[in-house]
Amino acid sequence: MFVIEINQDQPIADFYHELHLLVEGLLSAEAEPIAGMANLASLLFHALPDINWSGFYIMRDVHLVLGPFHGLPACTRIPVGRGVCGTAAEQNKVMLVDDVDAFPGHIACDAASRSEIVLPISYQGKVVAVLDIDSPTPGRFTRGDQEGLEKVVSLLERYLTLEKLAG
Ligand code: SME
Repeated sequence: MFVIEINQDQPIADFYHELHLLVEGLLSAEAEPIAGMANLASLLFHALPDINWSGFYIMRDVHLVLGPFHGLPACTRIPVGRGVCGTAAEQNKVMLVDDVDAFPGHIACDAASRSEIVLPISYQGKVVAVLDIDSPTPGRFTRGDQEGLEKVVSLLERYLTLEKLAG
């Protein structure tokens, strides 16, 4: 049984410190990337307040293809360079979008989404996937969230055998 007990009202650095301990516990127990990403999508969905989607897109040639996620069914294939996810993958850069309607080329999978953060995931210097989190609230994600989620991605890169995703 897995219990998520994180106080969501504490300072954001303390919140993410507790979250990182849970992430490390999950990922250090299983190196298979699909299993780890599936559990991580669920953990983030339940632990982070005010979000409506969390999940992964996996690089396949010139597209990102839907991977493990939590939330409503989503677009299955995004061209690299398009939308928030495709831009993050192409530029190998975190995209923090306060207002998705103001982002050129934003791809609306869940009509409820108003803000979004996308973080690239790398193996041997190449982007192999992205982590995408959506919120129904404009401006939901802060620099504190970005820093906390960058650490989540670094734990994922450390513990999962990402070479299995490449190709
Ligand atoms: N909004 C994303 C597409 C993925 S969904 O949000 C799950 C984008 O513009 O890349």
